[in-house]
Amino acid sequence: MPLFLRLKLRTVSKKEKKDKEKTAKPFLKWVGGKSQLLSTFQKLYPKELKKETIQHYCEPFLGGGAVFFDIAQQFNLKSAKLFDINRELVLTYKVVQKDVDLMMEFLERYSSEYLALTIDRQKEYYYEFRTNYNHQRFQIDYNRYNENWIPRAAQLIFLNKTCFNGLYRVNQKGEFNTPSGVYKKQHNPKILNEPNLKQTSKILSIADIEVSSFSNIEKEIKKTSFIYFDPPYRPISKTASFTNYSEKNFGDPLQLELAQVFENLDKKGNFVMLSNSDPKNENKEDSFFDDLYKNYNIKRVAANRVINSKVSKRGKISEIVVRNY
Ligand SMILES: C[S@@+](CC[C@H](N)C(=O)[O-])C[C@H]1O[C@@H](n2cnc3c(N)ncnc32)[C@H](O)[C@@H]1O
Repeated sequence: MPLFLRLKLRTVSKKEKKDKEKTAKPFLKWVGGKSQLLSTFQKLYPKELKKETIQHYCEPFLGGGAVFFDIAQQFNLKSAKLFDINRELVLTYKVVQKDVDLMMEFLERYSSEYLALTIDRQKEYYYEFRTNYNHQRFQIDYNRYNENWIPRAAQLIFLNKTCFNGLYRVNQKGEFNTPSGVYKKQHNPKILNEPNLKQTSKILSIADIEVSSFSNIEKEIKKTSFIYFDPPYRPISKTASFTNYSEKNFGDPLQLELAQVFENLDKKGNFVMLSNSDPKNENKEDSFFDDLYKNYNIKRVAANRVINSKVSKRGKISEIVVRNY
């Protein structure tokens, strides 16, 4: 290859790398996170976002918000309504939106204390931290934004970065109970990503973020919007349950209720997209979503998710995407 061409290629890839670094990403790792599917989803967003005939966005199952951050950076949005039933998650988003600098001071303290420790002490630090986090929930007024929210948000981010696989899991009593992510080798995760937190905070300035069940969102949507639903997965095998995000499971009755909300929003002229794990991955006969959304456009896309604990049974699986456009 001629030298000038090689140089040109190298410049392009450096630029691409820089652009990638500038792109804000979810500040929390979340089960069911859609970061890996974004390049596929980008082809499925409504064209009206680019034309700017839609400038209002709504995501009722926010989680890590991968799709929101992607859309908000690609298109000119005027407003976003972001909802989730998990009050700790919503509290953290609100603090990142309003008080990111103060929050980062707490996170910096936890991070430097933790990273200075040996592997055994890191584990102890994590479990002590988790116990305090669980006790302190009784002192938090979740209904009104206040200064106690700021360390609380930093604590959730700390736990998310140091727990096993970034998994948010609570027991029957509502206590966060994910084990430590520290196992054999020294565990030095990036706990404080300052540029990313600052960027996500700016992006969140257009958002209204609330604790809410998806069933309440219809009345919140006053202007024609693009709504993206990413509900907890319908359990696809008896052993693989990914539905334990909060205190409640998301079974078939809730999937049916959600299909009704989808239809109502469709009838009101909104653009609606929904994703879920394809039950046909496990059982070819299972046409639950094909039946439920038979009046809409259904597409299957490849996802890189692990659904089986047996390595021999792992592989490419598909995700189902339903759109009313
Ligand atoms: C699959 S995750 C969303 C993942 C997200 N798209 C991402 O990229 O990280 C589903 C989310 O729905 C929330 N959730 C569960 N039941 C809900 C309900 N009834 N109403 C609203 N949110 C709910 C969970 O707390 C969880 O954050």
